[in-house]
Amino acid sequence: MAKDYCVLGIESSCDETGVALVRVQGQDLPVLLAHALYSQIEMHQAYGGVVPELASRDHIRRVLPLTQEVLQASGKTLQDVDVVAFTRGPGLAGALLVGAGVACALGASLAKPVLGVHHLEGHLLSPFLSVDPPEFPFVALLVSGGHTQLMQVDGVGRYQILGETIDDAAGEAFDKSAKLLGLGYPGGPALSRLAEMGDPVAFKLPRPLLHSDNLDFSFAGLKTAVMVQAKKLASAQGCAVEGLHGQVLADLAASTQAAIVEVLVKKSLAALKATGLRRLVVAGGVGANHSLREQLNLACARRGVRVHYPELHLCTDNGAMIAMAAAMRLQSGIQLASEVYAFDVKPRWPLDEIMA
Ligand code: KG4
Ligand code: ZN
Repeated sequence: MAKDYCVLGIESSCDETGVALVRVQGQDLPVLLAHALYSQIEMHQAYGGVVPELASRDHIRRVLPLTQEVLQASGKTLQDVDVVAFTRGPGLAGALLVGAGVACALGASLAKPVLGVHHLEGHLLSPFLSVDPPEFPFVALLVSGGHTQLMQVDGVGRYQILGETIDDAAGEAFDKSAKLLGLGYPGGPALSRLAEMGDPVAFKLPRPLLHSDNLDFSFAGLKTAVMVQAKKLASAQGCAVEGLHGQVLADLAASTQAAIVEVLVKKSLAALKATGLRRLVVAGGVGANHSLREQLNLACARRGVRVHYPELHLCTDNGAMIAMAAAMRLQSGIQLASEVYAFDVKPRWPLDEIMA
């Protein structure tokens, strides 16, 4: 690989089509030249959640115009692309196939190599695109829609899972609670907006595994507790659970968020203590949550721990994190881009399969 090259990244694992171009110069941190994103939220809203077939079809419509937009914004052409990276998994099979198919077609037609990226590694390394990038080693709190994991990260591909959820992910706890409260999809941002107006100690909700002696999480019981509380309030208001309104709804949202955030913060602190590390990196969609950031900042400042986040607009799915993860894997020498264009995708793909 030349010393100076460009990596195009394509993300299509779920309900966002993302494309980005990063530039790699030697061992310097890769630089984002441009990125473009199309969110399918509006399309799926009518169904109350992601419809996989509609997602795949929409990725097909968006991916090439977004690629053109990125090339134009960075003043480059397709000929300037040296490697084409794509999300190989985990995610929705049909949606992943669109990104993989387009990436391999581009690679084959340009005679440039391709590289399949693990979506979670993309999230994990996305803070390196921020104005305040971390340094290895660090503890990572990975909180996406489907995953909640604490990891010790010693370098690219050197990830040790310290703890993870035994049932629902934190993002799922946000989404499922929001859905049962009639807040629609996507639930996390809606619930957290409402929580701003509520009282976080109004309702006593469970904090599962808060005092366990390991670093695992469990959020499935929380949504049941939210449902039980919501039913009580709804019968007092004389409406269905989805029809709850007013201050009590905001209070329940705030109490739900407080329960999730408290567990995430306490377990992150326990992971820092267990590893002796002084640096925490937060990644994934729930990392956009305002209250989580506030509480982590406060707790870490008290203990002299540095916290790093992705830029807010790069917390949820995007192409920049895929291009970045590919670039960092190439730089670290643990993976070569491939000139074989027969592709597959991995809808289920444990992160430990890509460790160096
Ligand atoms: O990382 P991500 O974009 O997709 C996956 O790889 O899963 O994460 C999406 C998750 C969803 O559960 C969404 O509700 C949650 O992140 N999320 C939030 C916020 N923004 C996105 N949860 C709480 N507060 C937010 N502000
Ligand atoms: Zn994601």
